Amino acid sequence: WWSNVEPAPKDPILGVTEAYLADPSPHKVNVGVGAYRDDNGKPVVLECVREAERRIAGNLNMEYLPMGGSIKMIEESLKLAYGEDSEFIKDKRIAAVQSLSGTGACRLFADFQKRFLPDSQIYIPLPTWANHHNIWRDARVPQQTFRYYHPESRGLDFASLMEDFKNAPNGSFFLLHACAHNPTGVDPSEEQWREISHLFKVKNHFPFFDMAYQGFASGDPERDAKAIRIFLEDGHLIGCAQSYAKNMGLYGQRVGCLSLLCEDEMQAVAVKSQLQQIARPMYSNPPLHGAHIVSIILSDPDLKSLWLKEVKVMADRIIGMRKALRENLEKLGSPLSWEHITNQIGMFCYSGMTPDQVDRLTNEFHIYMTRNGRISMAGVTTGNVAYLANAIHEVTKS
Ligand code: LMR
Repeated sequence: WWSNVEPAPKDPILGVTEAYLADPSPHKVNVGVGAYRDDNGKPVVLECVREAERRIAGNLNMEYLPMGGSIKMIEESLKLAYGEDSEFIKDKRIAAVQSLSGTGACRLFADFQKRFLPDSQIYIPLPTWANHHNIWRDARVPQQTFRYYHPESRGLDFASLMEDFKNAPNGSFFLLHACAHNPTGVDPSEEQWREISHLFKVKNHFPFFDMAYQGFASGDPERDAKAIRIFLEDGHLIGCAQSYAKNMGLYGQRVGCLSLLCEDEMQAVAVKSQLQQIARPMYSNPPLHGAHIVSIILSDPDLKSLWLKEVKVMADRIIGMRKALRENLEKLGSPLSWEHITNQIGMFCYSGMTPDQVDRLTNEFHIYMTRNGRISMAGVTTGNVAYLANAIHEVTKS
């Protein structure tokens, strides 16, 4: 039956973890996948999550959630993205469903887009998280790209980005990273977001925000929702994919939320029912446990403030590692500028290293990262930063 099936290529991100796990070297370092580690390189379960689990233990049944997921989790997620006192929440104008984390939210939206606007395309930033391309490809939505990153300055190519927004046909769909752009760590400033929002109004473009790192850009989830809030103030209808993988450390629980701001409540009811209809034959209804954890944390003021503190601790440790990596490279006398390590934000540093240099890091130093030169700063620790800096210096100095 399957004689014509060729092995699939390795995933450019998760394949790195597989290679890392298979390496017996005691010196190995994984700065591939964007998953937070403590300063000993160990995965972290947040204390607020442990407490939520204690409260759940033995107290809940294992019934199915509704097709659209946990109502409570969705309510809390919307407050986080749209604002505690959002008029759109009060007016019930947001169609929202629980999703299988951020990937699931993007995929549901892509399928929805294909079903109801079959001739539309999606504009995706260049570069972006590799899986974005797979998601819209598998949903059969044609893709275009827009310029985003300026390799020379290792910063934002704002002029080109605005030009591409301007030149796209009116009413185009754009995928925007709400904060902590993956893989570049480069975000527009607040002023630039205002200009983008204004131009989207003029062009009647639709913004779909992927917000996988809310809290990791500034250490404060509220501040990291700024781009979305600017678009809301300007009267856009938006879409939003939320994920609790990073900011609550619920990676394997697969919990997130897809929301679409609609014209009115009636439209929101219709849209939600269609999103559920897409979910039903794919996975029927989403998983329970992670949704309970999120609802408990976000609806309890004490647990929520504990969570906010813990997000800040994670974000601050990463900022500390950015400084340490840059200082170590400068101390080694690297002739290159490493300013971008501390200028970029969020979980990643887009180092500017070439695929060949990355291959040398892996083959000679057992350092595992994606071939686009992205370093997951969350995997850098006080124990490995000097080793990492030395290896980077070795492969970049000539
Ligand atoms: C990443 O970019 O490393 C994460 O979002 C993990 C993933 O699923 O790719």
